Order: sequence, then C-alpha cells, then structure tokens
Amino acid sequence: MLASVYAPKDFKRLRVVGDLVARCFDHITPYIKAGISTGEIDRMVAEFLHSNGARSSDLGYQGYPKSICTSVNDVIVHGIPSDDVILKDGDIVNVDLTAEYKGFHGDSSRMFMIGNVSPRARELVQTCQDALNAAIAVCAPGVPLSEIGKTIEAIVKPHGFSISRDFVGHGIGKVMHDDPQIFHFYDKMWDKVKMAPGLVFTIEPMINTGRAECKIDPDGWTARTVDGGLSAQWEHTLGITEDGVIIFTEKMA
Ligand code: MF3
Ligand code: CO
Ligand code: CO
Repeated sequence: MLASVYAPKDFKRLRVVGDLVARCFDHITPYIKAGISTGEIDRMVAEFLHSNGARSSDLGYQGYPKSICTSVNDVIVHGIPSDDVILKDGDIVNVDLTAEYKGFHGDSSRMFMIGNVSPRARELVQTCQDALNAAIAVCAPGVPLSEIGKTIEAIVKPHGFSISRDFVGHGIGKVMHDDPQIFHFYDKMWDKVKMAPGLVFTIEPMINTGRAECKIDPDGWTARTVDGGLSAQWEHTLGITEDGVIIFTEKMA
C-alpha cells in the first residue's frame, strides 16, 4: 500500500528537485500581477525548468497540454494556462508546479493574491496555508495517515469553508503520482496506515468558500466549484525521516 518509500540517497535527489521548484516560484513571483496572462506564467516556468536541465512533469501527462496548472478564483485544480486568461485586480490564483530532475519529481503549489483581494478571499488563502502547515507539523514516523485529514478539518471547519474530496495528495518520487492517497479530510480507513521513514508524499488541501463539489469544464481538465465559490490550494512534497518530516519543496539554506 505504501508504494512511495525511498532510501536516504533518494532523499538527496528529492531535496534537489524540491529546491529547484521553490526557486522557480521565487523566479516567477515578481511577475504575477494584474495584466499578466496565465499563458505567460506557463512559458516563464517552462523556460526556467529548461535552462536548469529539468522538465515539467505535467506536460504531456495523460495528454495535459501545458507545463503548469493555473487555477483562478472558482477553479479548484487543473486550470490550463492560456493567453486569454489575464489576471486582474481582486483575483486569487493557484500556480501548481511539478518538475522532474534526474529522475525525481517535486510537486508544490502556492496561492497568489492580485491587488486588492476581498477579506473573505484573504481568509480562504491564509486558512488553506495554515491547514497545510499544521498537517505537515503532525507528520512523523508512527503517525497514522488519517491525522493529516483530521488536522486539516480542525483548522478549516471553524472558518466555515468546505474541503474538496474529489482530489487527493499522493505518493511521489520516481513517478509523479503513486500510492498512498492522502486525504484532506478525516477517513478512518487511514487510521491503520502509519507513516514510516522513507515515505514520500504530497499534502495539497483544496478549500472553498461555498460547496465542496466540483464540475469539470468541456476541456476535460479545469475543475470548478459547482456554485462559483472561491477555491484555494497550497501544496508541498514531504519525506518522513527517522525523527520527523522534511519539506522537499522549500529552498535549501
Ligand atoms: N501537480 C498536480 C498534483 O498536485 C498534478 C498535475 S496534473 C497534470 O498532483 F495533468 F497537470 F499534470
Ligand atoms: Co501539484
Ligand atoms: Co500533487
């Protein structure tokens, strides 16, 4: 069941690709402002990855046409970058970036707030980041995988936001998507499965101002909230160590 278990030497590679993903975010961040298109962001990422000897894990994955996902406002996940989608004041946008370098994948996503964003949207973005950080903080050997969803629910529910159930975190390493599935809500099925050193996976909660259900656009990818409510997501790739957890998709000191 725990497919994505890796050796310490693999952790070094995962750290390197995770650092690259974090540096790519730092590279594009100054440009993510009102007036830029999501297509331009996609090209900046593709260029950065290419010039660093890496590639997008998304491009061509099950026919996916672009190098990143850009999910604006009511889009939960898998928004396809386009020159026709121009960011404007008040938007919230998730950029989800997965790169492969020397055979290992790193997967991370961040939210960006464009100009003057409504208080409720800010609260959504902040609560989602808090939920991810709280979930990371409970990760350690011997901890049931169900603690992740339990922790996220405890942070999110008091704010009255819903948690998407249609998309999950995942094992990752030499492939982008692997077992185990990581639920962002409590499910007793995961009480029995415990984290162990070497386990590598993502946590990527999606939370919404309205209902949790999604609908898919005719493009076959873009997942939106059914009621048009706003959606936010943050994601890191993590590894369980002998005594805790390491965040791969942060910059190396
Ligand atoms: N980065 C996404 C994830 O968090 C996967 C992207 S799906 C693709 O799992 F089709 F865009 F590749
Ligand atoms: Co991702
Ligand atoms: Co992911």
